[in-house]
Amino acid sequence: MSDIESIKHKYLDQIAAVTDGDALEAIRVAALGKKGEISLLLKTLGKMSPEERQSEGPKINGARQAVADAIAARKEAMESEVLNARLATEKLDMTLPPPSAPKGSIHPVSQVMDELAEIFADLGFSVATGPEIEDDWHNFTALNIPETHPARAMHDTFYFPVPEGSEELPKLLRTHTSPVQIRTMVDVAKQTGGEGEPIYIIVPGRTYRSDSDATHTPMFHQVEGLVIDKGIHMGHLKWTLETFVRAFFERDDIELRLRPSYFPFTEPSAEVDVGFSVENGRRIIGGDARSNEGGWMEILGSGMVHPNVIRNCGLDPDVWQGFAFGCGIDRLAMLKYGMDDLRAFFDGDLRWAEHYGFGALDVPTLSGGVGA
Ligand code: DAH
Repeated sequence: MSDIESIKHKYLDQIAAVTDGDALEAIRVAALGKKGEISLLLKTLGKMSPEERQSEGPKINGARQAVADAIAARKEAMESEVLNARLATEKLDMTLPPPSAPKGSIHPVSQVMDELAEIFADLGFSVATGPEIEDDWHNFTALNIPETHPARAMHDTFYFPVPEGSEELPKLLRTHTSPVQIRTMVDVAKQTGGEGEPIYIIVPGRTYRSDSDATHTPMFHQVEGLVIDKGIHMGHLKWTLETFVRAFFERDDIELRLRPSYFPFTEPSAEVDVGFSVENGRRIIGGDARSNEGGWMEILGSGMVHPNVIRNCGLDPDVWQGFAFGCGIDRLAMLKYGMDDLRAFFDGDLRWAEHYGFGALDVPTLSGGVGA
């Protein structure tokens, strides 16, 4: 074997036996570095006769190339050995459950709104909406509450500033959902050229009054109900409310009590109470309201739509009659799901929602609610 051949094989053997990167680098320097054995051989080419160069050149270059290739191949092999060793020890357990991402939770008010829409849809009602910034006419006057009427004082209204010198009445944040009664009837009167047609709507939405304590927040939610048809009487009102309350609280033994009351937009007007009793030390809606611990709890206001209101909207009260009701949604949620402070509803604290069973994966539904 020529010198060059034996030098080449010496390095190839060393490269094959090497087990770490430092040792491989040392071999590279010894063979191919500036003063490496093969590099020095290459330099001797310049001093050779052309004939010698022709025969030695390819051998030396071939040896350099072979050693360089072997180093690169060994380096790659060692890298994949390291990776394989890591893969062999670092095992991923694919059966472990992934860390859970925090999920949002449905708000009790949204939940109750959905329940209302579902119950009333079954009774043939559709959902209507209206603006939260109202004008005086829709919020008060058309509802038979004239400017001088004392009932206006009962609503602690948020008014918007009026431009200086303007004669216009200030815009306001609606104090109840009743203005949507007006908007709906006016629309129907317009669309039918004053003829009119039956209306069956509920109006869930935000309402505003300047008031704040454990059971009042400046923004709260109401649901309005309005039925306009021919030959409607209080029996329809009572049956509808009874059916609603029993479906909502998921008990068939809930009794209603209608107490005469006053609202400017209804005549006659009634406040509606639900009967409660005590079961297993807990107050529940339903059962015998006349029992020792039983009683009545007010839940909504209602009545037969005042002829003036129907007339104000451009319909004929001799043809069309109806009933209406208005109810606090937040209070319904509190009664059904057991919260006692209304202010917490609007703090946006997920722990509060979860505490009352409104975790993302455990939403009480109409069929599976926690009861009164
Ligand atoms: N708008 C009334 C309020 O906020 C509630 C109400 C009572 C609405 C009787 C009605 C009704 O539609 O008939 O206090």
